[in-house]
Amino acid sequence: MIAGVLGSVVVAAAPSARIDTVPTVIPQPVEMTAEAGKVGFCLAEGIKVHYRVSRSEEGRAAIRALMAAGITNVLPEENEGELEVLVEPGHGKEWYALSVTPEGVRIRVSELGALHLAAQTLAQSILTDAEGKPALPCMEVVDEPQLGYRGLMLDPCRHPLTVEQTKKMLRIMAHYKLNRLHWHLTDDQGWRIEIKKYPKLSEVGGRRDETPLLTDHEQGDGTPTPLFYYTQEEIREVVEYAHSLGITVIPEIEIPGHASACIAAYPELGNTDVEGYAPRVATTWGVLPYTMAPKEETFRFIADVMAEVLPLFPRAEFIHIGGDEAPRDQWEKSPFAQAYMAQHGLTNPGQIQHHFTHRVAEMLAPHGRRIIGWDEIMMDGSVPPTAVVMAWRSWVKPDAALTAADRGHDVILSPDSHFYFNFAQGNIPADPAYTPHGNPEAVQDWRHVYSYDPLPATYTEAQRARIIGLQANCWSESIQHGPKLEYQVVPRICALAEIAWTPAAKKCTADEFLQRIRAHYPWFRKMNINFRHEDGTPDSQLRK
Ligand code: ACM
Repeated sequence: MIAGVLGSVVVAAAPSARIDTVPTVIPQPVEMTAEAGKVGFCLAEGIKVHYRVSRSEEGRAAIRALMAAGITNVLPEENEGELEVLVEPGHGKEWYALSVTPEGVRIRVSELGALHLAAQTLAQSILTDAEGKPALPCMEVVDEPQLGYRGLMLDPCRHPLTVEQTKKMLRIMAHYKLNRLHWHLTDDQGWRIEIKKYPKLSEVGGRRDETPLLTDHEQGDGTPTPLFYYTQEEIREVVEYAHSLGITVIPEIEIPGHASACIAAYPELGNTDVEGYAPRVATTWGVLPYTMAPKEETFRFIADVMAEVLPLFPRAEFIHIGGDEAPRDQWEKSPFAQAYMAQHGLTNPGQIQHHFTHRVAEMLAPHGRRIIGWDEIMMDGSVPPTAVVMAWRSWVKPDAALTAADRGHDVILSPDSHFYFNFAQGNIPADPAYTPHGNPEAVQDWRHVYSYDPLPATYTEAQRARIIGLQANCWSESIQHGPKLEYQVVPRICALAEIAWTPAAKKCTADEFLQRIRAHYPWFRKMNINFRHEDGTPDSQLRK
């Protein structure tokens, strides 16, 4: 089968033997029919693509998306074709439809970007036929997500994560149709992105004297860390790799708090006039007092940093500026900050944070970028209307997400009650993770994630319209390497992906979802993912 627009059609056929199972696709497509016990499309010889399709823009994009999804034997042919690609504008941005018959595969998308989503559904649908060959069953899919922003946050500040490990997480994200990597690149314990105009950010901010022990966060390990930061070349490499999988990378530069590493590198950016001022890259976890000072010099610094950051993330419609946990203590004590408040008629030091938020939003707007901030950006005053609020503080009353939505902000749901993937998944010796709020009862296993409804009926239509997505966060205080990260993420990511994508009415029971997750174990193994078994055992232990 080839695109109808191409005139004379030579129809190839690649029927499989009988296929006795049906695919288990996560997240569940909105509409999907596939029948067991029939012949399907045989993939043993690959998918032949008519040369005219392979040279068209949509054909090339489809081939790239299929290969990125792991369907690598897609073969341009002189005069046969089994792949049809149709662009049908008018649907939602991420809408796609699939039709598989013994003769071929038809992909319809509203925009070329959605080819990644179609390709991942196809990749998850590959079964084995009665002759033991790889095959797609005959199936029809019409699908689109309920939320457009489906994210995961990685934190290479507390513990490093190599480029290769980051790419592996991107492959896992793409498989489950997550489309945003939020890259938390700066924090008190490390500055991880090269900024050429300010080399000390990575030279000084890229290492620290010691790290708290995993077993006792109050105790240091006494060991200086090796230097770790991403060069601009490495950042570009990750951003392009993510793009090849249909994922946009959003950098986070923390402003004005969580800035100890930045201020240790350039002490003049901090509140130098407070007693005992001695900034250093933090060697403890938690909230630290070092905030940026509201000086013109600091705003110039931020502008300079953004001037290097923006070109590295050319497709990021949002730039995350942090904004969480910025203590006001130093501003209260600093004569300079107090004079700044008097000069600008500020009555509360929290309003200094608003000046930062507004100034940075204004810097980015001419470049077509909007800011995202953690929900504290709403404290103590006004926020630029275009700011997106990432709501994480689940204990705050009234609800931070709804407050933001009611004020007209777009909202990304990231509550620490459900989506903090650094938190433990069980109170069992096999699960050595961090326990949230020191409460060993508060575990967040995949069932807990799956129980979350991002768009409950109790929200008004206007509130629902403001919720643009959701995101899980992998803070890395206790995630010291890639295999531990995989343990924390997989299979929780499956539950996250499904609640972000699939309307609640189409969700299944937890027991059914467990069976669906289990159907993905072979893929986890094929990808060498150290996933968490139901009893808490890391898969790597079973593979020894
Ligand atoms: C956060 O967990 N401090 C956003």
